[in-house]
Amino acid sequence: MMSFLSSFKVVALCYGLFVFGVFLSSEAQLDPSFYNKTCPNVHSIVREVINNVSKTDPRMPASLLRLHFHDCFVQGCDGSLLLNNTATIVSEQQARPNNNSIRGLDVVNQIKTAVENACPGIVSCADILALAAEISSVLDQGPDWKVQLGRRDSLTANITLAQNLPGPSLTLDQLKARFTAQGLNTTDLVALSGAHTFGRARCSLFVGRLYNFSNTGNPDPSLNSSYLQTLRSLCPNGGPGTTVANLDLTTPDTFDKNYYSNLQVHKGLLQSDQELFSTSGADTIDIVNKFSSDQNAFFEAFKASMIKMGNIGVLTGTQGEIRKQCNFINSQSAQLGLYNVASKESSSSEDGMVSSI
Ligand code: HEM
Ligand SMILES: *[C@@H]1O[C@H](CO)[C@@H](O)[C@H](O)[C@H]1NC(C)=O
Ligand SMILES: *[C@@H]1O[C@H](CO)[C@@H](O)[C@H](O)[C@H]1NC(C)=O
Ligand SMILES: *[C@@H]1O[C@H](CO)[C@@H](O)[C@H](O)[C@H]1NC(C)=O
Ligand SMILES: *[C@@H]1O[C@H](CO)[C@@H](O)[C@H](O)[C@H]1NC(C)=O
Ligand SMILES: *[C@@H]1O[C@H](CO)[C@@H](O)[C@H](O)[C@H]1NC(C)=O
Ligand SMILES: *[C@@H]1O[C@H](CO)[C@@H](O)[C@H](O)[C@H]1NC(C)=O
Ligand SMILES: *[C@@H]1O[C@H](CO)[C@@H](O)[C@H](O)[C@H]1NC(C)=O
Ligand SMILES: *[C@@H]1O[C@H](CO)[C@@H](O)[C@H](O)[C@H]1NC(C)=O
Repeated sequence: MMSFLSSFKVVALCYGLFVFGVFLSSEAQLDPSFYNKTCPNVHSIVREVINNVSKTDPRMPASLLRLHFHDCFVQGCDGSLLLNNTATIVSEQQARPNNNSIRGLDVVNQIKTAVENACPGIVSCADILALAAEISSVLDQGPDWKVQLGRRDSLTANITLAQNLPGPSLTLDQLKARFTAQGLNTTDLVALSGAHTFGRARCSLFVGRLYNFSNTGNPDPSLNSSYLQTLRSLCPNGGPGTTVANLDLTTPDTFDKNYYSNLQVHKGLLQSDQELFSTSGADTIDIVNKFSSDQNAFFEAFKASMIKMGNIGVLTGTQGEIRKQCNFINSQSAQLGLYNVASKESSSSEDGMVSSI
């Protein structure tokens, strides 16, 4: 009887540990040293490509940071944004917030090729986006952080969820709701919006504020009158909506706290930016003031919120896959013969992928 009881205890204990282990492994378990042994130079490989491209395209760091955001907010940070249209995939790239808007997909492919050449089949496209976001911040004098790694790539995309990415005419309550839905709070909203310290936005996305705000027939009253004149000459009423304006009029290609000081003088470019400071009585005003007065406080908050955002809905362990080509799931890129030479060579010796084409 005793031995039955004690073996029952042992079994119960083992079962408990097993359940605990399963529970842990179903949690997002990312780690900054995930590729230390399998691809030790991944960070510097990604950095080299971005450094290079940015010399001729100073907007690229902003564009790459935005890709990680648009990936993470749609079924998690899983590279789903990168998938192209195929017979079975409806790409997120043509969703309204992305169509004719996201940039840098070609650069991501360039990075992937460089990484595959060094470490074939190891580094996910989702992790490349996370690394590129941090490297882009640092390149434009923003904060650095230890990028959590070990994400795997999705087998699906979801254009319906991508349509729901936050838009430039949302009110503060709507912005908060979109962030809450992702597990991000008000501090995260204000800190991450600080990414609009660099990059550009098209006239079509804020022209309503200049001539006919919310169909009032007047400009947005929260827009500084001198800035209104500047923006009106850049974006004439009925003119091309594709002209771009700097999101941060003071230091357009530098990652700094000026985004927040712009809001204080009513020079936020998008309605969604100015809402953070000009919504009367809002709890975001104090946070804007804090970040405007203390760049270190902004940077620390931004780092924490980027890591938090980078953990949204990640695939780990045996979930998903490591894509060979970021625009296609492996079963389709194999058929299309699209992955690069380095991974072809390794896969032919490892898993016979090539012989199956
Ligand atoms: C709070 C809600 C947000 C809204 C409503 C919003 C909206 C926008 C819009 C409308 C543009 C211009 C797109 C175009 O011209 O086609 C833009 C650009 C940009 N966004 Fe956001 N965004 C938000 C949050 C974020 C976050 C969280 C990040 C990153 C952490 C981010 C990073 C960027 C960057 C860097 C650009 C410039 C991209 C470039 O120049 O290519 N945004 N955003
Ligand atoms: C992984 O590599 C990074 C960069 O070389 C280093 O800072 C870190 O200590 C390493 N981590 C482990 C667990 O070896
Ligand atoms: C850097 O860019 C140039 C063209 O702009 C290209 O020829 C070169 O191969 C690139 N180098 C790397 C490491 O990406
Ligand atoms: C994927 O689609 C983009 C447009 O969204 C296009 O520019 C790119 O060439 C496509 N990539 C491949 C490998 O077909
Ligand atoms: C995406 O943009 C193209 C023009 O570049 C346009 O023809 C197409 O209708 C747009 N797609 C959607 C879904 O808005
Ligand atoms: C996209 O996400 C929505 C909401 O979670 C879900 O109902 C729908 O089935 C998804 N579509 C695809 C193609 O996965
Ligand atoms: C938001 O969440 C962070 C932790 O992720 C916490 O430190 C911060 O106090 C929270 N802010 C608000 C306004 O709840
Ligand atoms: C503003 O937009 C509304 C709705 O489209 C329109 O009825 C009104 O005439 C516009 N006012 C001006 C001054 O353009
Ligand atoms: C408009 O901007 C100027 C600086 O260009 C500033 O002195 C002024 O206070 C701003 N006005 C408002 C209402 O914020």
